[in-house]
Amino acid sequence: MKVSLLDTNEPISVEQLKDINVLYFPMDMNDYKPALESLCQERGYKNRDEVKLNKDTPNIEDKLKIFFEEHLHDDEEIRFILDGSGIFDVRNKDDKWYRINVEKGDLIIVPANMYHRFTLDDNRFIHAMRLFTDAPKWVPVNRY
Ligand code: LAC
Ligand code: NI
Repeated sequence: MKVSLLDTNEPISVEQLKDINVLYFPMDMNDYKPALESLCQERGYKNRDEVKLNKDTPNIEDKLKIFFEEHLHDDEEIRFILDGSGIFDVRNKDDKWYRINVEKGDLIIVPANMYHRFTLDDNRFIHAMRLFTDAPKWVPVNRY
């Protein structure tokens, strides 16, 4: 994972992410199950699914357009990157973007009600596990 202030490229630390309640868990991809199960136990994630996006995904450009609209959800957004990479932008306290470049092995938690957006990077491939407290649903509330 690499984080920076989008406007200036200034590096942002994991601590600074934590200050805005975005949590980061580096996962051991040789043996992630125990850490994943205890995280799910502790935080009450009862459901999960997996999504893959790449250039051959049907309607990929339309999907990315929707994901890159600034939006929030009324629950946490938990993403565990199983393969590939991607970009999450989250709004900090000054309403500036923090750009979070995620890659295989990164698990991030964006808190409920925080504006954010997602897109692929130049690699154009991500395989992510989505974790949910309830049944999988995807309800974005767009900012504008
Ligand atoms: C999501 C990303 C696109 O809500 O923010 O899945
Ligand atoms: Ni989202």
